[in-house]
Amino acid sequence: MPYENLLIEIEDEIAVVTITRPKALNALNQKTLLELQDVFTDFAGDDAVQVIIVTGSGDKAFVAGADIAAMQSLSALEARQFAKFGHQVMRDIEDCPKPVIAAVNGFALGGGCELALGCDIRIAAENARFGQPEVNLGVIPGFGGTQRLARLIGKGRALELIFTGAMIDAAEAYRIGLANKVVPLDQLLETAKKMAGTIISKGPYAVRLAKEAVHNGLELDLERANQYEAELFGLCFATADQKEGMQAFLEKRQAEFKGK
Ligand code: CAA
Repeated sequence: MPYENLLIEIEDEIAVVTITRPKALNALNQKTLLELQDVFTDFAGDDAVQVIIVTGSGDKAFVAGADIAAMQSLSALEARQFAKFGHQVMRDIEDCPKPVIAAVNGFALGGGCELALGCDIRIAAENARFGQPEVNLGVIPGFGGTQRLARLIGKGRALELIFTGAMIDAAEAYRIGLANKVVPLDQLLETAKKMAGTIISKGPYAVRLAKEAVHNGLELDLERANQYEAELFGLCFATADQKEGMQAFLEKRQAEFKGK
């Protein structure tokens, strides 16, 4: 289905989702959020897609935030609804059973940083700039930034970024664990696709259960999270992929996973 603010390209079981509002530095308005929700719902059940890459159009921005022009005149209740919808979309991305890689090209600010945080892995181009500058606008992060950023980089660093509204470069994002790796801009998509290809070569069922174990387990205490992991580990043994993976190892050959 053609989208107004997204471009979708699928090749070799990798879907690249490009946010295409370059005039607003790819800012997230209601329509773009709806389209993201829609496309991730489709990917969840589409066997032709195994890994998803999210990026922004142009060289300047991944996503420069939620759309400030669209938010400016919201009432308190409308703003709360907008934040809840943003949360739902980030959650839909997190709950998507396929791995999601953010390929961050340029500004990832406010809702853009939060979108990157909703993805499983963040690869930053050298020109990437991350930040939660909402305090400059008299508001706080509203798409999960106060929560996912603190969980990923720690409370102290997250509070510093949120209190100061400072923008950090790709090297600093890498240093504090916000970016998984940093590459030149012209190698960004290629690097993300290479990582996607590596993931696709593994047992798809195991990859999905691993995603579930990490995301859902982090919301539990360690004892329960380990119990949950043991359940999912057990579930792997109900799959043909586990039989094939272990058999292939013992026969000293490459496994041929079927995702079953
Ligand atoms: N929303 C709407 N439009 C935006 C935007 C945003 N978040 N960010 C940039 N734009 C628009 C600008 O208004 C401008 O439009 P015009 O050409 O029509 O004037 C165009 O994109 C280009 O932007 P600039 O001229 O400002 O470009 P620059 O290179 O001078 O600066 C920038 C780039 C530093 C990213 C700057 O645009 C900026 O600070 N943007 C806002 C970043 C921000 O505050 N993000 C957080 C938003 S609030 C939020 O996200 C809340 C939440 O958690 C849900």
